[in-house]
Amino acid sequence: MRQILVAGNWKMNGDSATNAELVANILAAVPVSDNVRLLLCPPFTYISAVAAQIAGSKVSLGAQNVSEHSGGAHTGEVAAAMLRDIGCSYAIVGHSERRTLYGETSAQVANKFQAVLDAGMTPILCIGETLQEREAGRTNAVTEEQLDAVLGTSGIAAFGSAVIAYEPVWAIGTGKTASPEQAQDVHRHIRAVLEKQDRAVAATVQILYGGSMKGDNAAGLIAMQDIDGGLVGGASLQAADFLAIAGAAAQN
Ligand code: PGA
Repeated sequence: MRQILVAGNWKMNGDSATNAELVANILAAVPVSDNVRLLLCPPFTYISAVAAQIAGSKVSLGAQNVSEHSGGAHTGEVAAAMLRDIGCSYAIVGHSERRTLYGETSAQVANKFQAVLDAGMTPILCIGETLQEREAGRTNAVTEEQLDAVLGTSGIAAFGSAVIAYEPVWAIGTGKTASPEQAQDVHRHIRAVLEKQDRAVAATVQILYGGSMKGDNAAGLIAMQDIDGGLVGGASLQAADFLAIAGAAAQN
């Protein structure tokens, strides 16, 4: 059975005081379940403070982005090894906001994915279609193209140490959630694409759903066979909302 991962993507929100309160409230009520792991992804500037606060707990730490380069003259960038050095074990790559607002290409995302692996961390690869693409019947084609870009550079074995997040762009921050059936269909397709190359890797890779996951829809989504948790934006900013999702996961 695959473990469930509930990851909070704080995006560009919070400050020292609100983060400390959020983390304290989460730590006070982490669900006791060996089958659920919680992950927090703060902005770069707060990673070290959160690392100190969660030390000794079962909560993991990740970054929201990473450089594709390992070091050197890249002003403003942060290397994977630096993130590992300050306590991260995960890094999100290819979030749709990075792809659309900052022009990240699938090739760059693939390089970031490999950079995270090279640093001994777990990449969380985000893939997902826009509303226009869904309406044109291209959902599976788009997610497959995004997956193929990474398979082409890192190979199938790399997915033995990676997480995939299916995030329909039309559901991110919009309050519109994919139905459990809509999400399951795409998750199944993603796993089927991997199965063609390696059945064992496909069976073990965690595929998270992201896009307006909340306490009241998490149970239905996580109950689906190929949905192994969530990448949570808005609802990760309030401890009660995030813990409601974690609680739903623990009941699964
Ligand atoms: P949301 O964001 O939960 O606010 O829709 C999810 C994400 O962008 O990872």
